[in-house]
Amino acid sequence: MDSKQIVLITGASTGFGRLIAETLARHGHTVFATMRDPVGRNAKHASEIRGLAQKESLPLSILELDVTDDASVVRAVHAAAEQAGRIDVAINNAGYGLVGLAEATPTEQAQQIMDTNFFGSVRVNRAVLPHMRRQRSGLLLHISSGAGRVVIPGFALYCATKFAMEALAESYHYELAGQGIESSIVEPGAYQTPVFVNFVTAADSTRADTYGAVAQLPTRVANILTSSSGNAQQVADAVLRIVETPAGQRQLRYRVSDTDIGVDAINSLTERIQTEILQSFGLAADTTFVHRSAAGTA
Ligand SMILES: NC(=O)c1ccc[n+]([C@@H]2O[C@H](COP(=O)([O-])OP(=O)(O)OC[C@H]3O[C@@H](n4cnc5c(N)ncnc54)[C@H](OP(=O)(O)O)[C@@H]3O)[C@@H](O)[C@H]2O)c1
Repeated sequence: MDSKQIVLITGASTGFGRLIAETLARHGHTVFATMRDPVGRNAKHASEIRGLAQKESLPLSILELDVTDDASVVRAVHAAAEQAGRIDVAINNAGYGLVGLAEATPTEQAQQIMDTNFFGSVRVNRAVLPHMRRQRSGLLLHISSGAGRVVIPGFALYCATKFAMEALAESYHYELAGQGIESSIVEPGAYQTPVFVNFVTAADSTRADTYGAVAQLPTRVANILTSSSGNAQQVADAVLRIVETPAGQRQLRYRVSDTDIGVDAINSLTERIQTEILQSFGLAADTTFVHRSAAGTA
């Protein structure tokens, strides 16, 4: 595989997605920075990215992609594959936070955040995988969160979406290894991006009536996260390192944060237990990464 990768990233209008897209392109990787509604709500962001690409002669272009819309995902993946001839890396980054007590979150809001944060990855992975299986190489990257490994009260639904994403990504990690395709997870701590201003609030506040001081917990936690957030370029730099790591040498999980709230301990424990489970089920050989050439030989 060429060391310069063809990358498709979701949610590239702002925050991590934008920084990752620009960082990868500045290092010579061809990047399809996708976003929803690049001629409407994201017109300013799209035009800034196009301006940067032109000014610095970067291999960076925009495609429309709404992760909640199957047809939109398929269209964008098809367009990227047509233009570049292949897709080496798909970065599932689009997502948002939902603050509030679990009980104060109506089913519809719970479904909406799952649709973006979890089903978005389901859609994107299913759209890119036929290309990667044909190439017999590729990387599915998932921007999860420390909140995909530890539970933060007041962020129940957000945590649930990231836990779900982690399970999907880890299953793909095992299921695709024999075809030379990797699936990895990035677990950032709190970083300064528009994520905090984009937080959605649980709509049914009447459910908080009997919770006493606990009703204030979501706001308290949101304030802690906002005030402790670091420089988001750290996450973009970590993604660059992962993308540039040779195939077969990438980890399943990468915690990215200045302080570790216990995520490393959980990751190393689950890695050991998963390995034992795969061995006891007799699945270890089938779930080990195998380098494959385009001709299909290992
Ligand atoms: N910042 C943190 O502290 C932190 C920590 C851990 C994990 N994360 C995760 O990092 C990812 C990026 O978040 P961020 O911090 O960079 O915040 P952000 O600036 O708010 O970025 C979120 C991105 O997701 C996009 N998006 C939302 N719904 C979408 C949809 N239906 N289709 C396509 N794109 C959609 C947004 O696009 P629009 O502009 O169109 O809304 C935006 O580009 C998220 O998955 C978040 O959960 C963030």
